[in-house]
Amino acid sequence: MKLWGGRFQKETDELVNAFNASIQVDSRMYREDIQGSMAHAAMLADRGIISREDNEQIQAGLQSILEDAEAGRVAFTEDNEDIHMNVETLLTARIGDAGKRLHTGRSRNDQVAVDLRLNLRREIREIQEDVLDLMEAVLDQARQHQETVVPGYTHLQRAQPISFAHHLLAYAAMLRRDYGRLADCGERMNLCPLGSGALAGTTYPIDRWETAKALGFAAPMSNSIDGVSDRDYALELLSDLSILMMHLSRFSEEVILWCSWEFKFIELDDAFSTGSSIMPQKKNPDVAELVRGKTGRVYGDLIGLLTTLKGIPLAYNKDLQEDKEAVFDAVDTVKVCLRVFTGMIRTMRVLPENMRRAAGGGFTNATDCADYLAKKGVPFRDAYTAVGNLVYYCVEHGKTLEQLSLEELRQVSPLFEEDVYEALRLETCMNQRKSYGGTAVTETARQIQEVETFLREKRAAE
Ligand code: ARG
Repeated sequence: MKLWGGRFQKETDELVNAFNASIQVDSRMYREDIQGSMAHAAMLADRGIISREDNEQIQAGLQSILEDAEAGRVAFTEDNEDIHMNVETLLTARIGDAGKRLHTGRSRNDQVAVDLRLNLRREIREIQEDVLDLMEAVLDQARQHQETVVPGYTHLQRAQPISFAHHLLAYAAMLRRDYGRLADCGERMNLCPLGSGALAGTTYPIDRWETAKALGFAAPMSNSIDGVSDRDYALELLSDLSILMMHLSRFSEEVILWCSWEFKFIELDDAFSTGSSIMPQKKNPDVAELVRGKTGRVYGDLIGLLTTLKGIPLAYNKDLQEDKEAVFDAVDTVKVCLRVFTGMIRTMRVLPENMRRAAGGGFTNATDCADYLAKKGVPFRDAYTAVGNLVYYCVEHGKTLEQLSLEELRQVSPLFEEDVYEALRLETCMNQRKSYGGTAVTETARQIQEVETFLREKRAAE
């Protein structure tokens, strides 16, 4: 018979039994379910709602289930629907009547809410660590390429020379925000719904602060209806993970471009690329493509849950059971993506000569040429037009700006002198951009230090 079978005369339809069950998805919360039940039982005993002896039996019984589950020795069943009823049924089978007292003053509605918060709180910390690992890999590459000149792009057209370190550090900045968003999410969701009961609280003299504290929450949730029906934290996490995946996806897109023959800025390690079954020459960036592809899947998890939640009246409705599949899928996807992506970045080989060659074409020093004239007093807009004319001339004659003779340069302005060639050197162009946050070596060194400090602080706090 079902735990809730008292009111029923007939067995559940077989199809309904399977349809209604969530154990396939929520069994991964067995630790949190047991942890929550232990805290609840201890509190019930402290408040004299159940006896000390019952509590001792419950604690021992739950502990033995935990150990057996860790060792893969328990079989959860669909007949027991979800992790909550599976654990309770196992407990009662092991310790008898004391097990039947566990659910006093509690509902599965507050139970599932507390389990999911505990579970996601742990997952968030793991993902944060994975983010730090990726930041570290990005930082290691940046450290080695502070002097490596590469074209910076806008509209995917060569724009201005930058260092490869500067480009990579932009991703470090994004990842740092991702870390912060996850921390905010973890903090906001760290309130305890346990004790909300089915929706209205309970007549037993429970102590919600005791359970909240025992489970490491900052406080109990203030409204019992909100306690059982709120899933904002799941949405927030999905939003944060979507943004994080968007960053990985943009990075992936660049890696894919960079390792194409059209760019050849990097070479992926053999261990992080794949071949073709027919074309013998192929070495494909499948890892980056899959990360880019899986981004859509995480967005789907977010949009799916948003849509599920939008029409649900207060308080608990079974629709809410759909939350877990979405968040667990996103969590698993992000974790594997971060880990494999980190390995790919760590092992990729940068080809500085090719980057430098690309930066030498496409007139990436044209802005600097205009700035040269502007610094000699020509209004910037006029200097801009003069250099535009020069670029046109270069394109016609198959030359670059620095290949023009002084005579040719002076066709557009008499102010050009010998020192223009130094001003047009890509290294000069790059290293003169010393404005705060710019691409000069001094500024990338500052950024590297900033990220190092951040990593050191976060690692120390772990
Ligand atoms: N398995 C359910 C879920 O994940 C647990 C709560 C069920 N509560 C209920 N009254 N049916 O949402």
